[in-house]
Amino acid sequence: MLSGKQIVLIISGGIAAYKSLDLIRRLKERGARVIPVMTGGAQEFITPLAVGALSAETVFTDLFDRQAEHDVGHIRLARDHDLILVAPATANLMAKMAHGIADDLATAILLATDKPVLAAPAMNPKMWDNEATKRNRAILKTRGIVFCGPAAGEMAERGEAGTGRMSEPLEIVAAAEAVLRDTALKAGDLPLAGKHVLITSGPTHEPIDPVRYIANRSSGKQGHALARAAWEAGARVTLVSGPVTLPDPAHVSVIHVESAAAMLRAVEASLPADIAIMAAAVADWRVAAEGKEKIKKDGSGRPPALELAENPDILATVGHHRNLRPRLLIGFAAETQNLLDNARSKLERKKADWIVANDVSPQTGIMGGDANTVRLVSRDGVEDWPELGKAEVARRIIARAAAALSD
Ligand code: CTP
Repeated sequence: MLSGKQIVLIISGGIAAYKSLDLIRRLKERGARVIPVMTGGAQEFITPLAVGALSAETVFTDLFDRQAEHDVGHIRLARDHDLILVAPATANLMAKMAHGIADDLATAILLATDKPVLAAPAMNPKMWDNEATKRNRAILKTRGIVFCGPAAGEMAERGEAGTGRMSEPLEIVAAAEAVLRDTALKAGDLPLAGKHVLITSGPTHEPIDPVRYIANRSSGKQGHALARAAWEAGARVTLVSGPVTLPDPAHVSVIHVESAAAMLRAVEASLPADIAIMAAAVADWRVAAEGKEKIKKDGSGRPPALELAENPDILATVGHHRNLRPRLLIGFAAETQNLLDNARSKLERKKADWIVANDVSPQTGIMGGDANTVRLVSRDGVEDWPELGKAEVARRIIARAAAALSD
C-alpha cells in the first residue's frame, strides 16, 4: 500500500518528535518516499540533519526560503503527493489547522492541500482534554482529517499520565495505509472493492490432553500474506488463523482457533464469501478421545495407545456447500512427492477451482521460510511460478483471483 507512495511528513514541536525519526524509517522500509517538513518548534527537539539523513531528502523548514520555493514551492509540496502526515500534531498546530492560519511552511501546506491528511496528535493530557482542543479536533474531523491516537500512558513530564502520547510509529503506518486504501477505494482503483475474502492460515493444534497437542510446522506466513494482499486489493477480509507467532494483520478481522473442528466452525460462520482461500495446514487427524486429565506414565514402560480420528476436511466441506460455495475456491497442496498428481486429485476431490501446489520437502525450506515456489493447478492446466517471496506469491494469487471474478 505504501510502496511508491510520496508522503509529506510534517513534524511539529513536541517531545514526541523523536518518534518521527523511527516513523520515517518504517515508512521507507515499506517503499514510501518521505518528504519532511519541520516547524521551528520541531527543530528545538530534533535536528533537520537527523531528519534529512533518515529520509534521504531535503528537509523543508522555511516558508520564505527562496531556494526551496524555487525548487518545489509550498503549493507543490501541498499538492504533488499522496498523503500529508502530521506527526506529531501539537495542540498549537491543530488550532492553526482548524482556523486556517498559515504563518509558516507547515501550516501553509496544510491550508493549500487537496490531499488526504492524517494527524497523530501528541500533547499534555490537560491540553488534549481542553475544550479548545476538543473543538478544534471536531472541526478538523468534519473536514475529513483522519486522526491516529493519541494513546493513553505516561507523559514525558514527571508524574503526568493520561491521554496525549503520540501513537507508536507502526500504528501510524497502519493508519496511513488505511487512508491511502480508502482514497484508492473511493477512486474505484481497487479490484476487490465490495468483495468478502475468507482465508484460513497456520497450523491446527489437536489436543491429546490438557498439556499436549499434535501440530505441524506451518508458520502461517503465506496465509497471513494473502489476507494482507486481499485487504490491499480492497476486499473485506476474514482470516481464520490457527496458532501462529505472527502478529494479526492490520485491518483484517481475525478469528483465532486451535483445532480443525474449531476452524471449520469459524469458516462456516464466516460464509458467504466471494473468494475463499484455504491456506491452513489443517491436521488430518485428532486424538479420538482427548484426555481430560494429563496422561501419566503408568510405570509399565509401555506408551499409551493414542487412537486417532479423521478431522473434517474444511476445503471439501466448503467446496461441496450447496448454496454457500464461494464463487472462487482456492486450496493449497503441500506435498513432498507426486506434486501435480496429488494437486489434481485434491482439486477434484475437494471441488476447488484452483490448487496452489508446493513442494514442502525439508530441503526446500518453504515450511516456515519467507519464499515459496508454487504451481497453480486449475482445470485449464498448470502454471509454474518462479521462486518468489510469500508476499509476492500472495499478491499474484489475489490479482489472478480478482481477474477471475471479473470474467
Ligand atoms: N484442508 C482442509 N481441511 C483438512 C485438510 C486439508 O481444509 N482437514 C485443505 C488445506 O487447507 C489445503 C488443502 O485442503 O487447502 C490440501 O491440504 P493438504 O494437507 O495438502 O491435503 P490433505 O487433504 O490433508 O491430503 P494429504 O494430507 O493426504 O496430502
